[in-house]
Amino acid sequence: MTTVLRISLCLLCVFLPGCTKNRDQKQFRIAFSQCGEDDAWRRSMISDMRRELAFYPELDLLYVQADNSSALQVKQVEELLKKGIDLLVISPNEAEPLTEIVESVYRRGIPVIIVDRKTNSGLYTNYIGADNYEIGKMAGEYAANLLDQKGNIIEIGGLPLSSPAIERKKGFRDALKLFPGVKIIRELNGSWVKTKAKAELEKHKGALSETDLIFAHNDMMAWAAHEVCGSAGAQNIKIIGVDALPGKNAGLELIYNKILTASVLYPTGGAEAIRNASQILRQQPVEKETILQTLVVDANNVRMMRLQTDKIQNQQEDIEKQQVMLDEQRKTYRSQRTLLYILGGTLILVLALAGLLYYSRRVNLLINKKLERKNLEIHKKSEELLEMSQKAEAAHEARLSFFTNVSHELRTPLSLILAPLEELTASARVPLPVKSSLLLIQKNANRLLRLVNQLIDFRKIEFDKMRIEAVETDMNAYVADIVDAFQTLARKKNIDCRFLTKERAPVAWVDPAMFDKVLFNLLSNAFKFTRNGGYITVTLQEEADSLLLKVEDNGIGMTEKELRQSFDPFYQADHLVKNGSGLGLPLSRELVRLHHGTLEGQSQKDKGSTFIIRIPLGDKHFTPDQKSEKNYSADFIKEEAGSLAMELAPEALREDEPPGEYLPKTHTLLIIDDNSEIRHFLKGRLEKKYYVCEAVNGIDGLKQAFEIMPDLILCDIMMPGKDGITVSAQLKEDVRTGHIPVILLSAKTSVEHRVAGLKSSADAYLTKPFNVAILEETVNALLANREKMKEHFSSVLPQEISHEPRKKTDRKFVSEFTAIVEKNIGNPYFTVDEICSEMMLSKIQLYRKAKALLETNINEYILNARIQKAKYLLQNEDLSISEVAQKTGFSSSTYFSTVFRSKTGITPSQFKK
Ligand code: FRU
Repeated sequence: MTTVLRISLCLLCVFLPGCTKNRDQKQFRIAFSQCGEDDAWRRSMISDMRRELAFYPELDLLYVQADNSSALQVKQVEELLKKGIDLLVISPNEAEPLTEIVESVYRRGIPVIIVDRKTNSGLYTNYIGADNYEIGKMAGEYAANLLDQKGNIIEIGGLPLSSPAIERKKGFRDALKLFPGVKIIRELNGSWVKTKAKAELEKHKGALSETDLIFAHNDMMAWAAHEVCGSAGAQNIKIIGVDALPGKNAGLELIYNKILTASVLYPTGGAEAIRNASQILRQQPVEKETILQTLVVDANNVRMMRLQTDKIQNQQEDIEKQQVMLDEQRKTYRSQRTLLYILGGTLILVLALAGLLYYSRRVNLLINKKLERKNLEIHKKSEELLEMSQKAEAAHEARLSFFTNVSHELRTPLSLILAPLEELTASARVPLPVKSSLLLIQKNANRLLRLVNQLIDFRKIEFDKMRIEAVETDMNAYVADIVDAFQTLARKKNIDCRFLTKERAPVAWVDPAMFDKVLFNLLSNAFKFTRNGGYITVTLQEEADSLLLKVEDNGIGMTEKELRQSFDPFYQADHLVKNGSGLGLPLSRELVRLHHGTLEGQSQKDKGSTFIIRIPLGDKHFTPDQKSEKNYSADFIKEEAGSLAMELAPEALREDEPPGEYLPKTHTLLIIDDNSEIRHFLKGRLEKKYYVCEAVNGIDGLKQAFEIMPDLILCDIMMPGKDGITVSAQLKEDVRTGHIPVILLSAKTSVEHRVAGLKSSADAYLTKPFNVAILEETVNALLANREKMKEHFSSVLPQEISHEPRKKTDRKFVSEFTAIVEKNIGNPYFTVDEICSEMMLSKIQLYRKAKALLETNINEYILNARIQKAKYLLQNEDLSISEVAQKTGFSSSTYFSTVFRSKTGITPSQFKK
């Protein structure tokens, strides 16, 4: 689009004359410096120039006049030079004062045309004017004739230093030399100006009586002489002037009206000056002197002269009119041409735009078609998506309704479990071990009830069925009661739990039964995730129009992502896996929202978390039916906190646990589970028969397994960090621990999980909630199997072990071990240390492994192997007793015989026989 427009504009510029310059016709700037313009002759000169300029459009004229001041004229020429001119036309006021500046202009290479008056120098390009000496001479001769060669003359001259005045005076005198009867009786200075001439002549009025003729150097001064003569009554005096200019009150009219006797024609040379200037600038030759013609005008030829000048004047005026018309027509032509160009340009532009429009319409049509197709596709897809999402929503809804319904159904039996439980736990007749189990049941039933309640609350909020009953509450007392309720738990967990209030009596409108759920949730989270020795601080303060409640801990904290997800309903962060429904925070946030407030969290991994509740002060945000006068019950809070504290403090039970009856213990079990309650429960069950060790996660489990080499490992699958399947696989792959039976425990019941568990070579897989009897049976059975295997290994001697041990790692161990022993059987210095370094095992690992797989101690095994080999040699080789002793690594035959006898009951020689 822009390209087309740009091309059109360029075309327009080519056609429009205003856009390009006529480079062929060079413009010149010429200047005209005039000595003055207070008389008709000077005005006539400049109008002659202007008229002539119409024929030379390449010339621009700068015009200045100096008010008959030579100094001013010099200054003006200097200024013209600064402006920059191509040619100077000058009519100098006086010769001498203007000579220097005119010479300097000429010397700069600027052509100079001098008009009418001259300088004293010959440095100029062209002079234009009539011959003033000739004019003076013609006036002298005419005067002598007029006076019949006898009479007195007064001469009124122009500026004495101007060239016409000097030359006219000389010519006049030279002419009169031929007529001795004619005398110049007075010589006055009229300075070319009528008033000055008049004043001068007035001074010599007395001489008029003897004067016959006055010769003035121009008509204006001659007219002044006529006026003085008239006033002096000397009307007979003849008066001659110079110029004979046409026009009103000018020379020709004065002659015609008999004011002047005669005048010598003196043309201005204005037109010639322009003509010559053009020629000079166009480098055409021009003569140095352009001398204009002159003649004497008197009563005899004035009529004809006037007729001629009038005619010329009329013609001039016609020319001027035509010029004006021509100019107007030129202007019309130019504007019409411009219009034409504009129209042409516009047409091109319109055509280009039309083309563009057509093209873009076509492109648009194609795009539209494509878009329509895409739209249709998108529409179809969005409908499909909508349908899918509706189905998904319906399914989700159905699932949630199912959960809600089940939750409702669960509440009644749970309450029915909890009620008699409370009675039983309170009863003094219940024996301690039973009480311990009952407390565990009570704690978990309480937790289940809480979760069920959370789920129901959440659904209520979702369906906008949760009704708020806000009560004006003394927040200090209310929050203090809640925090107090957690103090027992805080002591048990060695956590510094404090309530700090910055306000004296903060009052807020809250629904106590709803708000305590929020605070309980935040506090129970804080207790769950704060380690022993940590702190939890609850702070209350007012800020602007809000009440701020902060629950801060220095617990394990969360990453930004975990924090975000913790507000997402049904999401369970890794660390939350076993500690909540995932509904606590989202539900709390909704409950705070019902109070027109906000709940935000801040957390840093391994540094702690802060949760901030912000609710508005006052009650304006609640409708009257949302407000109540009910009071909260501090007892209820204590009760709730008590059950929560029990949930959160699994270790508490241990103190009250009965010792139970213990049987002699033979085996060590290792329980790996991140849930302390499960660990505690399992330990309680298994401790009577076995030594039980505990590990809190997968990494800890592996570490302990390598250290203590237990006889059996119980390992949970779902653990943060290393999960049970990885732990089991690692144990089984390691030669040190590969023989240890592993039972995997998990809540995950899917077939895939079972398969994954068994693939890790675990020996058994039990799902939660597990039946304790089955668990105990599985442990017993696995340990019994192990015993049998040991018996089997130990009942045969190394070279006789021909069956395949059950595990690949076990096979590897046995074959490596026997190979090393076999290799060193003749080496009397062979010790356990060598086996350890070859098998890269510690002594304790080697002893335990060998004991587990071969049910014998290593030295015993080596000794048996030596005796076994000796038996073979005695039977099959023809060797002496001492040779056999040597080949089986005994340092002396006596020692060999003693050992042999102790092992077999007979001496080597008896055996040989
Ligand atoms: C005009 C004028 C003319 C005269 C000429 C001489 O100023 O005085 O009348 O002929 O100048 O330079």
